[in-house]
Amino acid sequence: MANLIDGKALAAKIRNEIAKDVEALKARNINPGLAVVLVGNDPASSLYVSSKKKACAKAGIESFSYELPASASEKELLDLIGKLNSNGKIHGILVQLPLPDHMDESRIINAISPEKDVDGFHPVSVGRLVLGEPGFRSCTPAGIMELIDSTEIDIKGKRAVIVGRSNIVGKPLAFMLLERHATVTICHSKTADLKGEVRNADILIAAIGRARFIGGDWIKPGAMVIDVGINRLDDGRIVGDVDFDSAKDVAGAITPVPKGVGPMTITMLLKNTVLSAQRS
Ligand code: GUN
Repeated sequence: MANLIDGKALAAKIRNEIAKDVEALKARNINPGLAVVLVGNDPASSLYVSSKKKACAKAGIESFSYELPASASEKELLDLIGKLNSNGKIHGILVQLPLPDHMDESRIINAISPEKDVDGFHPVSVGRLVLGEPGFRSCTPAGIMELIDSTEIDIKGKRAVIVGRSNIVGKPLAFMLLERHATVTICHSKTADLKGEVRNADILIAAIGRARFIGGDWIKPGAMVIDVGINRLDDGRIVGDVDFDSAKDVAGAITPVPKGVGPMTITMLLKNTVLSAQRS
C-alpha cells in the first residue's frame, strides 16, 4: 500500500503558519485584505468563493466580497477591478472563473494589477514563473509542489509526467517542476501513447478531469501519484482522475481525493495574499 499524502493535514499546518504571519503583519499595522469577486450565481463558483472567504477569516485575513449579476457588463467588472487595483486595503484580487460568456476572460485577468494577482493568472505572473523570477505562482500547482516536497522526495532528475495542459494547472506546474530540475513531459488528449508516457513517470500528476481515467496498471511501481481531479459520480461521490483502489497498491505515494490537492489550493491563495501584504 502506497504512503498517503495527506493534503488536509499539510494545509492545516501551513494555514497555522500563515495565521502567525498575519499576526506579525497586524503588529505592524498592515491588515492583509483579499477582494473576492463573483459574477453570476453558478453554484460551484459560489461554493468555492464562500470556502475562500471562510479560509481568509480563519487566518485573520480580511475578505472584501463583490457580487455582480450575470447580466453585468464587462465594463462594470473592469471598472470594479480598476477601483480594487488602487485600493490600499486590498492586497489581493481574485475574480472567480469561469466568467459569463459575454466577458473576455483574458481581458479581465489582464486588468488586474500584477502586484495584486494572487491567483497567478496574469501574463506578467506567468512570465515571471517561466523566467524563474519572483512573483505570484498559481495556487493549485504551487500546492502540488508543497505536497511533493512534504514527502521529502528529491525532485532533481526525476521524470515528471503531467497529464493535462491547462493554463491553471498543467502548464504552470511544468515550469515549477522544471525549475526544480525534473525532466518534464506534458501529455494531453492528442498524445500518441498516453499509457506509455504515464508508465515512465517517477512523479505522475493527473489533471485531466475524467473520473478514474488512469488505472493502477498504467503506473510505474513505486511512483508518486498526485491526483488533481475532482469528479462527481452519479451517486454523488467525489473521485479523482486516478483509479485510487488499483493505484494505491502500485504507487509509492499517492494523494487521496478528496483531502489531497483540494485543500492546498486555497492555502496557497492565503499564502499569496500574505506575501502581497508583506511586499506592500
Ligand atoms: N475557478 C476554478 N479554479 C479557480 C481558481 O483557482 N481561481 C479562480 N479565480 N477561479 C477559479
